[in-house]
Amino acid sequence: MKGIILAGGMGSRLLPITSACSKQLLPIYDKPIIYYPLSTLMNMGVQEILCITRADNLDAFSNLLRDGSQWGIDIQYTIQDKPTGIAEAFLIGEKFIGEDSVTLILGDNIFYGASVTAFSQKGDKFLSGARVFAYQVPDPERYGVIEFSRDGKAISIEEKPVQPKSNYVVTGLYVYDNSVIEKAKSLKPSARGELEISDINQSYLEESKLEVLILDEGNTWFDAGTADSLILASQFVQSVQKRQSTMVGCPEETALK
Ligand code: DAU
Repeated sequence: MKGIILAGGMGSRLLPITSACSKQLLPIYDKPIIYYPLSTLMNMGVQEILCITRADNLDAFSNLLRDGSQWGIDIQYTIQDKPTGIAEAFLIGEKFIGEDSVTLILGDNIFYGASVTAFSQKGDKFLSGARVFAYQVPDPERYGVIEFSRDGKAISIEEKPVQPKSNYVVTGLYVYDNSVIEKAKSLKPSARGELEISDINQSYLEESKLEVLILDEGNTWFDAGTADSLILASQFVQSVQKRQSTMVGCPEETALK
């Protein structure tokens, strides 16, 4: 299993700071944001990781994370010229993925709780199809929204719908078999000009190859794209670390474990 951290984008909801610094390098409490998705991948047992960044931020990321050998992993870097969609990660990363399956995580997504790791124990057995992680939110219209049938089966995924069909959204952690590369190649840009990850998920769903795992209330997920979410996530990490004497999103601790 290969891993990709997508850490480009404009960070437009965090301007002006993101005109001078990548969003994924801003702090959540005591660590840069990217440490959290990196630790999630490490917890899932992924050891070969491609970090995709904007050209002007590449040096900053590689100075921070280096080649990963200090944590027993391998980190490579490459550039996304323009933020033309999350699904472009599989085109940029085609050579890196090779014949493998791949886990993609968004560079501003923070996961806390046992489920992601527990589910990903199954990762070893992951052979085909796709696996996404759903979370219940009060503002689903900001995300990829999952529609469920009466018996709880996922039946559609829509990107930022005006009228969401549920409060369950797809989080920024996706596990795919190798066919994701061909699916990405056949995508057409959406109305907003992006290669949409929701179109990839919808395509797996139509082939009955999409597994939707719900992260229950014992798990916490943040998409750290706004000023408010930076503060909320920072306060959350601070509380957990102080009260439980444990670390969240710490590659050193994850490597040691
Ligand atoms: O956070 C989960 C959500 O992420 C999903 O529910 C949505 O289905 C998915 O489309 C995405 O929605 P966002 O509105 O949060 O996507 P955003 O454009 O903010 O990009 C997410 C991260 O990916 C952000 O850190 C920037 C990075 N990115 C994004 C694009 C479009 C890139 O590096 N390159 C890109 O081309």
